[in-house]
Parts: sequence; C-alpha cells; structure tokens
Amino acid sequence: MNKKIGVLDSGIGGTTVLDKMVELLPNEEYVYYKDTKNNPYGEKSEEELYKIVKGIVTFLINKKNCKMIVLACNTATTKCMKKLRKEFPDMLFVGTVPAVKVACDNNYKHTLVLATPATIDSERMAELVKDNKKDDQEMILYPCPGLADAIEKGKKDKITQILKELKQKMQDKKIDSIVLGCTHYPLIKDQIEEYFPSIDLLDGSFGVAKEVKRKLENHNLLNQTNTFNIEYIDSEGI
Ligand code: DGL
Repeated sequence: MNKKIGVLDSGIGGTTVLDKMVELLPNEEYVYYKDTKNNPYGEKSEEELYKIVKGIVTFLINKKNCKMIVLACNTATTKCMKKLRKEFPDMLFVGTVPAVKVACDNNYKHTLVLATPATIDSERMAELVKDNKKDDQEMILYPCPGLADAIEKGKKDKITQILKELKQKMQDKKIDSIVLGCTHYPLIKDQIEEYFPSIDLLDGSFGVAKEVKRKLENHNLLNQTNTFNIEYIDSEGI
C-alpha cells in the first residue's frame, strides 16, 4: 500500500499549500486534516496548541499511514515544529513559515508581515527576522487577530473592517511588499490587493511544495504508481 502525505491546518487555509503540492506532485496520495473543532489556532497558548497538533500528527502516523507530515499552517509551524521533530524523530516534517527570507533575499526595503498573533509572537518569527533582515531593511510585524477566523467562516464585513483598519494604520508607512504569513490569507489576495495596489504580495506556499518534493526525492519516498488521491478529514466529523 502506498504511503501518504499528511497535510494539516486549523481549517481551509492549508488548501493554498495543498494546491501547490498537487501541482508539483500530481501522483501522490494526500490526507488533508482540517481541524474545525479547534479553529482558530492563532490565539491559542503554545501548550494548548502543541497538545492539539501532537494529537493530529499521532493520528496521521498511526491511522493514516503517512510517510510525511506537512504543517500547512504558519501558527502550528512557528509554535510546534521544533518540539514535534524531537517527539517524532523518525517522521519527515515540512513546515510553513512567513516568507521573510524571500522578502529579504529579494531586497525589499519595507516589508509588512501579516500573521496570526501567535505567529507574530513566536520565537521562530524573531529568529526569521534576525537571520534574514539586513540593516537597510525594515520589517513591520503586524498581528491580525480574527482575520483567519473571518476568512474561514466567510465573514465578509469583518474581513473588510480588518483590512480598512490595517490600511489606515499603515498610511504613513512606506511599504513595498506584504508577507502573507498565514495560509488563510492568500484566499483573500484580491481584496488585499484592492487595499494595497502595486505592492508585491509574498506567499510561501510554492516554496513549501518544492521542499516537500525535495525531501521525498532525497529519501526515495516518491510515489511510484499513478494513484493520485486526496482524502479530506474534518476533526468535527470524527
Ligand atoms: N492557517 C493558519 C496559519 O497559517 C492558522 C489560522 C488560525 O487558525 O488562526 O497560521
């Protein structure tokens, strides 16, 4: 039996990463775990979130025959990845972090990083900035409480209100790029573009897909048969 790639997020955000993985690896079998029961992740404590994510990883390994787990969630990655790698040393993991490195490598000078409060507040976020930002580069870290939840639940008015407020707060700043540091945010790319026209939006999902491919190749774990499939699991249904 073919082994699968487990993909997890608190909700629909991770599909932005899954889509890119399917584009790059169309012969793989995927299990997409949508944690509706515990959504949103972005305002949970590290301890609470780790307990939840560890439970899902255990389920994907023991019940779903996964060869790799992809955290298609910046919050889960920045808060839990280091501990997960220690706890499951034999499992292959790939995470999603805000595309700060991409912004810095491409020499943007004034980058606005949008992410959940938990991601913005994480040690991993501070590390990303410290490791990549040059002296002549500015990185504005902006937590967006409620935005992922509003996207998940399709609350259009709330999304508009958050974007309006953001635009107002940033009106005196020079911004040349925006990092979409939550996998839900690319789902409202068009709306963000309306508020910030001609500013480059950076989203790390294709980079994640490339890393998945590279790791599977290196470990000789690519699916050898043509059996593409996606199984969707919702924590509310189990
Ligand atoms: N999509 C997730 C992320 O990338 C989490 C959103 C949430 O549940 O708060 O951070």
